[in-house]
Amino acid sequence: MPETNDPSRVFPPTLHDLEGAAEGVASREAWDYIAHGAGDEATMRANADAWGRWRLRPHVLRDMSDVQVATTVLGTAVSAPVLIAPTAMHRFVHDEGERATARAAARAGVVYVVSMAATTSLEDVAAAAPDAPRWAQMYMLRDRGRTQALAERAAAAGYTAIVASVDGAAVPRRSRLKGGALVPPDWFRFPNLAGPDDPDSTDLMGMVSDFDPATTFEDLGRFAEWSGLPVVVKGVMRGDDAVLCLDGGAAAIAVSNHGGRTLDGVAATAEVLPEVVEAVDGRAEVYVDGGIRSGVDVLRALCLGARAVMIGRPVLWGLAVDGEDGAAEVVTQLADELGRAMALCGRDRVERVGTDLLLPVT
Ligand SMILES: Cc1cc2nc3c(=O)[nH]c(=O)nc-3n(C[C@H](O)[C@H](O)[C@H](O)COP(=O)(O)O)c2cc1C
Repeated sequence: MPETNDPSRVFPPTLHDLEGAAEGVASREAWDYIAHGAGDEATMRANADAWGRWRLRPHVLRDMSDVQVATTVLGTAVSAPVLIAPTAMHRFVHDEGERATARAAARAGVVYVVSMAATTSLEDVAAAAPDAPRWAQMYMLRDRGRTQALAERAAAAGYTAIVASVDGAAVPRRSRLKGGALVPPDWFRFPNLAGPDDPDSTDLMGMVSDFDPATTFEDLGRFAEWSGLPVVVKGVMRGDDAVLCLDGGAAAIAVSNHGGRTLDGVAATAEVLPEVVEAVDGRAEVYVDGGIRSGVDVLRALCLGARAVMIGRPVLWGLAVDGEDGAAEVVTQLADELGRAMALCGRDRVERVGTDLLLPVT
């Protein structure tokens, strides 16, 4: 791990460079875990490619002397329309793990969505950056009492939204991982996901099989009842489902295919975002993730109607290379690139960008 205060260190200029640097410092197991996608990884690749199929049609000769990328998500002020997506096991890439990510998010001024499969408890993440906004991601477990207890813990620890992931109806095929299974180091603990009967369990696959495949739209309201918090539904890939989520009590929709990690062959998120935005029709905020690797990608997502994007792997790359500083740099770099892209497209506020800036490449 490089020194975080090494003055000779030059931060990689793009997220693609950062990816290469992260591969160089992460262990083989950690890298395969972060980098893999489901099946042949076609959806994972398609996510990134699909953003590139929208090209920009810039406006010129607008006054761009004061460009701002700040916005709000569910009423919370953020420095940029970027959320840190929930990703499991941050201690795989840095000793400080989720604590470092929480401090990075606080420094960058964005919301950190903490994974149910974090290697740090919800309470310890909260304590690492007590004043920063944070949301808690969870799956509905077969044991509703355990899910309720976690939702209540999140509310008590100052989380201000529950992100209910809904793409867990089956365990994905992960060709790149040995035997297809996730086998974390045996010193890892999962203080949010492990059950009270076996709090020190390291059997991540066993815990993942606790996700309830019988979960339906009717269950969404339970997260809100238990926590008293707004519910963001993560993993929606269709307009009709988005409407059913909103009718079931969701406060926001996150268009996501889990970074191509659940089912290979699923559409890229950029391909379905317009349909979801149209179906939601302004009733709720829509977020999107998957393959967003530059400020221009963020701008494309905003133009298509997303309120904000979520970033998964790049934050882990930053964390692997330079801990808290590296993770914060990923977010600030995206915000900086977004601001420059907006200026060069003649739009000085995020709420002023729209589809008129886009040209589809066929
Ligand atoms: C290493 C890793 C772990 C993840 N863990 C979770 C998780 O615990 N819960 C969840 O809802 N999504 C999880 N995701 C999916 C991310 O939240 C997000 O949807 C995805 O990473 C976005 O794509 P990107 O990595 O291309 O930015 C994970 C993704 C990665 C790469």
